[in-house]
Amino acid sequence: MKKEKVVVSIGGSILIPGKDDPVYIKKLTEAIKEVSKTVQVVIVCGGGRIARYYTETGAVLGGTTYQLDMLGIGATRLNAQLLAVSLGDLSSADIPTTAAEASARSTPDNIVIMGGTVPGHTTDAVAMMVAREMRADRVVNATSVEAVFSDDPKKDPAAERFSEMSIDELGDIVYKEHGAGKSSVFDPLGIKIAKEEKIDILMIDGRNLSELKNAVLGKEIKGTYVSSR
Ligand code: UTP
Repeated sequence: MKKEKVVVSIGGSILIPGKDDPVYIKKLTEAIKEVSKTVQVVIVCGGGRIARYYTETGAVLGGTTYQLDMLGIGATRLNAQLLAVSLGDLSSADIPTTAAEASARSTPDNIVIMGGTVPGHTTDAVAMMVAREMRADRVVNATSVEAVFSDDPKKDPAAERFSEMSIDELGDIVYKEHGAGKSSVFDPLGIKIAKEEKIDILMIDGRNLSELKNAVLGKEIKGTYVSSR
């Protein structure tokens, strides 16, 4: 049977929670191995706290935007290498540096792990670029937020929680956030590509491993299903 292709964008804070990290990464590895029997998976790792440490320290030292992005990319690749170590033979410690390379190296029998590519965007956009290259069936965005809300639920208890939405509706929320200068639920470049290529995005809480497995396998999720069709 032909396997579906799924790209997972996993936030750095999910990959490395900062407490009992090896125990958690091992459990995550088992979940990834399990789903990879059914679907062809590429995983794009975010930078999390390590990226933030380097970019913030680099900023104080007077780094340019380009230099800070390069520090961020370095951190995402370091995280990717750590996950590759945990996956062992199913993956490769030689991390792809472009979306095209990741797509070319992905097969139904392996798990390609990567981080960032070039300055100017985030790993969410990289995940979408890989999805475009390999003609993926969907992108799973695994973050620490359990769903998309109309506003920050901590600040506005009346904020609406979406179980489904269109890519345009997600675009509106991201645009509103950018206006307020906050960090975004999904990279605007990733949204643009999703819309052009008609790739659906599943926004889920990646700390919940059964939710992560359901999203990768295309089963029902508790998070938000963003339709791009
Ligand atoms: P992340 O993808 O982790 O960014 O890359 P983020 O969305 O800011 O972090 P999370 O998901 O909330 O934890 C970290 C940083 O690395 C640079 C950017 O500066 C980004 O903010 N980066 C990453 C690039 O410049 N290009 C890439 O392809 C990836």
